Amino acid sequence: PREEGWFQNSLYQFKGFWDQAWLIQGALGFQKHFEARDDDILLVTTPKSGTTWLKAILYATLNRSNFPPNSHNHPLLTNSPHMLLPFMEGSHQDNISRDRIDGMASPRLLFTHLPYSSLPESVKHSSCKIVFLCRNPKDNFVSLWHFANKIRPKTWGTLSLEEAFDKFCRGVSPHGPFWDHVLGYWLESLKRSEKVKFLKYEDLKDQPVASLKTLAHFIGHSFSQEEEANGVIDNIVSLCSFENLSNLKVNKDGELPFGMAAGAYFRQGQVGDSVNYLSSESLEKIDSIAEQKFGPHGLKF
Ligand code: A3P
Repeated sequence: PREEGWFQNSLYQFKGFWDQAWLIQGALGFQKHFEARDDDILLVTTPKSGTTWLKAILYATLNRSNFPPNSHNHPLLTNSPHMLLPFMEGSHQDNISRDRIDGMASPRLLFTHLPYSSLPESVKHSSCKIVFLCRNPKDNFVSLWHFANKIRPKTWGTLSLEEAFDKFCRGVSPHGPFWDHVLGYWLESLKRSEKVKFLKYEDLKDQPVASLKTLAHFIGHSFSQEEEANGVIDNIVSLCSFENLSNLKVNKDGELPFGMAAGAYFRQGQVGDSVNYLSSESLEKIDSIAEQKFGPHGLKF
């Protein structure tokens, strides 16, 4: 099945999930060729859940001894976070990008949007860590709708909120069904908490320092007491804040591969903005789908 008019390109359904054709092709290459290492860290997100933010946080945390987060030459000051982690299905289009990933020094920090069921076997069976980030469905949807209208071909016109909402609720969205994507990682995190860390945008926003400590511990790079006392965690939080990143020149004016403007990844960076867009009927509808899909498994937003 094919769905026109949502995103940058048409979406196709493949093994139960919707994606763009070139990324489905890349996912097949990723599944076939990728050899996970035990110390790899794979970030997985639903689109518009705060990927840009968590890429920055993980990069700054993992590289803090080479690049102290308050240093004036920190790579995040001059590179979009998207340029610092390879996008696995995007990078498995050709041998050159694939070899570059094979040649990366450990520990590698990698990124994908794929659902759990589509991850390469070596990811599932090695000891590598998976950090999964998602966001409450209402804000996630509203952010996705804004983003889609920024990147859709102009010839497709504007995607109305109503049309997008209907598709999202029916499970038709990039990497959707959103519900199944989130649930796949939630269930795996319940089974293997040492392997899969399940994070919510809202928790990162509410408790950045505590979330960062837990995250660093999970990836095997805990902060020492000395680092804590020296404000390293606070410095990472400030470096990666919406206010800081969104005002950097590279994130305002920069261009990313695949024809994206770096600025498209920053809008408001708040929790609860969906009430400004969705009617009470729509809010109730999305709550009831979430309750039906997630409730029986103990997942709440
Ligand atoms: P909004 O559209 O609600 O503002 P992604 O990076 O997965 O594409 O998600 C983009 C969403 O995360 C956007 O949400 C964007 O504004 C927000 N975002 C980007 N950087 C952020 C940061 N440093 N802190 C908090 N939110 C951020």
